[in-house]
Amino acid sequence: MKLQYGRIIQDRLDDEHGLPRRRLEELARRFGAIQAEVRERQAEGEYGFYALASQETTVRQIAAFAEGLGQAYDHVLVLGIGGSALGTRALVSALRPPAWNELDDEGREFFPRLTLLDNVDPGTVAAALRRIDPRRVLVNVISKSGGTAETLAQYLVVRKWLDDALGGAASRHLVFTTDPEKGALRALATSEGIATLEVPPDVGGRFSVLSPVGLLPAALVGIDIAALVQGAARAVARAEATGLLENPAALYSGLLWAADTQIGARIHVLMPYSDRLRDVAEWFRQLWAESLGKRVDREGRVVHTGPTPVASVGATDQHSQVQLFMEGPFDKVITFVAVTDPGEDVPIPERKGMPEEVACLGGQTLGGLLRAEYEATSAALAQMGRMNCTIALPDLSPESVGELLMFFQLATGYAGCWYGVNPFDQPGVELGKRLTFGALGRVGFEPPPPPEDADADTA
Ligand code: PA5
Repeated sequence: MKLQYGRIIQDRLDDEHGLPRRRLEELARRFGAIQAEVRERQAEGEYGFYALASQETTVRQIAAFAEGLGQAYDHVLVLGIGGSALGTRALVSALRPPAWNELDDEGREFFPRLTLLDNVDPGTVAAALRRIDPRRVLVNVISKSGGTAETLAQYLVVRKWLDDALGGAASRHLVFTTDPEKGALRALATSEGIATLEVPPDVGGRFSVLSPVGLLPAALVGIDIAALVQGAARAVARAEATGLLENPAALYSGLLWAADTQIGARIHVLMPYSDRLRDVAEWFRQLWAESLGKRVDREGRVVHTGPTPVASVGATDQHSQVQLFMEGPFDKVITFVAVTDPGEDVPIPERKGMPEEVACLGGQTLGGLLRAEYEATSAALAQMGRMNCTIALPDLSPESVGELLMFFQLATGYAGCWYGVNPFDQPGVELGKRLTFGALGRVGFEPPPPPEDADADTA
């Protein structure tokens, strides 16, 4: 994996926009202190996700556990939300063939189908339960805290559906992934004898894709989780480099921070040119937003800081958002992910009688066209003075995807120090959770503020 960052720097753009090169030099000088802070905080117990790159025993245990279970069930139903769902979705889309659930048993190499419910929209939940056979399903309920309203509500609905169909055998169809000691799910697992996997207490939800949270569902559908973690280890090793220019995660986060705070580029777009990485962009959006969007800094000063991440996909969004990226305000940095060898290509047939202006498409390939579109968009943006950079990924193997995911997590950890905020808390999300329970009338939880006159200011 390589980070090509030249097109963030002013002298590689139009000499007017972009980060002046001296800013890069300033970042490099400051980096020693940033890295020392990361190491210090790591020693104090923060940054627990680094350890997920060296967990051979856990990976072996999960793989063995999944192998036993995978043969007994032909559908995996994952219940979770936020950090307990987005990583799993990213892994499955990136590392399983497209339209996985539509493939027959042979096409899936006899691994189960997987449905992930990360919302409480009744239409989606009801439709999923109509589609899935409760006798053949394994339900993985994932919640680090064990008390998130959406996940617990899903669980209650699914549990009744299982009880109705299976009676006393229902609990054998359940695995909980949750805190080793705390929370409602842990208590339920203990009292009902439900199988569990542990979320390491020092790993936050949005940093947990390479913990049992993402690894169990991934292993169940046949993803090589050992290779995934090996790739992550590669990213961690590179993030130890003490020179900023040799440390892609620290450099990426430093450049984006400087672009945001020094020249007003507050919007950070992630745009893979690959459908299979579309959900990685959605996963990154949560990671970057929830980690860096903060009211106070580490010193407790009110700062209301944080970049706004945007998920996009090439070439599709060339016909949607790219007009804005090219000609709108200079408030964005666009990060492309370009896959050198996407694994499969489709020739575009030549055909007699095609009008001259489109005849050149014949004889190319779809992969070649996608690549050309990425290259043209990146170059055109640069010509217009628009900051962009590229993460060049060699392929879509588990190693490369593991490296990519860990790279973004490391970058987020470094970004916490550049921004001076705690990237591992989420007081705003917690407030939302408390108000939800308050609105449902749970004792001890404050109700949300009453709506202003509901009819005022409506159109
Ligand atoms: O990153 C986070 O901490 C959050 O997005 C959580 O993952 C999300 O709120 C779900 O929490 P839990 O896993 O405790 O159910």
